[in-house]
Amino acid sequence: MNMEEKRAPHVLIFPFPGQGHIHQMLTLAELLCHSSIEVTFLNTHHNHKRLLQFTNIQSRFARFPGLFQHESISDGAPEDHPRPSGFLPDLTDVMKMNSIMSPHLRNLILNIRDDPGRSPVTCIICDGLMTFAIDVANELRIKSIAFRTISASCFWAYLCYPHFQDDKDLDEKALSVPGMEKENFFFRRRDLPGFSRQFPENPLISDSVLELCIKETFNSARASALILNTIEDLESPFLAQIRTKFQKVYSIGPLHSFAKNLRTATKDQTHNHNGLWEEDRSCLTWLDSQPPKSVVYVSFGSITVLTRSQLSELWHGLVNSGYRFLWVRRPGLVSGEEDSDIITGERGFVVKWAPQEEVLGHRAVGAFVTHSGWNSTLESMAAAVPMICWPNSADQPVISRVVGELWKVGVDMKDVCDRSTVEETVRYVMGGGGGEMGRSTAEIADLFRKSVVEGGSSYSDFQDLVKDLKSN
Ligand code: UDX
Repeated sequence: MNMEEKRAPHVLIFPFPGQGHIHQMLTLAELLCHSSIEVTFLNTHHNHKRLLQFTNIQSRFARFPGLFQHESISDGAPEDHPRPSGFLPDLTDVMKMNSIMSPHLRNLILNIRDDPGRSPVTCIICDGLMTFAIDVANELRIKSIAFRTISASCFWAYLCYPHFQDDKDLDEKALSVPGMEKENFFFRRRDLPGFSRQFPENPLISDSVLELCIKETFNSARASALILNTIEDLESPFLAQIRTKFQKVYSIGPLHSFAKNLRTATKDQTHNHNGLWEEDRSCLTWLDSQPPKSVVYVSFGSITVLTRSQLSELWHGLVNSGYRFLWVRRPGLVSGEEDSDIITGERGFVVKWAPQEEVLGHRAVGAFVTHSGWNSTLESMAAAVPMICWPNSADQPVISRVVGELWKVGVDMKDVCDRSTVEETVRYVMGGGGGEMGRSTAEIADLFRKSVVEGGSSYSDFQDLVKDLKSN
């Protein structure tokens, strides 16, 4: 191999082992391959197997011969460990997982370097929750970039966390946003990132996971740059704050729209599925037979776990609203009821895992009851579907606040889960949300479209990122 080939950019992408993280980083991998950058995508053995089983990743990336490879390493848990989707309690010991993964990562990079048939890794793009990879990169004198899969608003809230007082009044103003005084926008204590409402019975778990998220947010600054899957015009006040603490921030979202554009431009008909569960496409046929904007889509992402009573309130609220609904009941969604009967109703359709992007883009869908995960939020805004937010933990309380109060593309039902509120909120949003919501969703969807085409801010940040990766 001559020196010229050795300098070819080769990026190792390493997501945190969760659906929302893998989805975003795999989409980035696709975009980089389109820009002729070699990518090695590193997963845990467990998630690697699931991706091979449930997605078309092999055939999809076969379009990039010589540019895409997968690798996998152990997460430390035994093969037969169930790794429940509400994974948090198992990851209280993320540090243990990290210490197991760190030497595996180092060995993998050294093995690639020593393999005469492969070009050496020139940059690690690691999940911002796994900053041990930045240390490995530094030790091996490789460039590193942190990719955090949350919104800029949430990333900034984590950066501010040490300043918060332990105040019990959840409605008290907790964080004003510099530059947003005119909008009179602020976060209340109940809007801050957290885990305590998901694990009230175990404050040790909630505190340690929160502590880890905050620590990793600060640690990300050790990388040469930060990537966020967001849009400059949507989150500029937060991005401006983050830029005061980070050398370089690439704001390149929404990645799924970016990838969709590229597929359209290259006449690529491949279906993009990055899920760790098998997609049930029968819901699209069901949606085809429903009137326009008549269906409420309900999904709580990949890690949220509901209690039986929350499920019951949400379901009754929906049924009482009188609207049709499509509900994703992922295995493990309800605590302690892995395989119990699936709730159906006259106007309801239930699947275990839906092709969400296509569902949100379907003309029959009029609103989205969501846990406010960042992927779901971006997908909903790109499709101009208003949201009914019922956030659960982590970044979700922050996102539902900006969705409801700042961007006005949904209603934040935070911390309330009773059937009458659900019913009333569904009726309000499906009825047009007072007019304003319809205008805001259309404006934001338009802003998203413009950001990922030539001349758009995400498009240009992505070109800068590619230049950065090619400048080894
Ligand atoms: C969580 C966080 O809340 C999120 O903000 C963070 O970036 C990653 O960890 P998750 O709970 O999985 O993620 O939610 P979300 O970010 O919304 O991601 C779920 C993804 O699964 C979306 O891309 C969605 O399209 C997909 N999905 C969900 C399906 O494809 N089908 C389904 O039936 C449900």
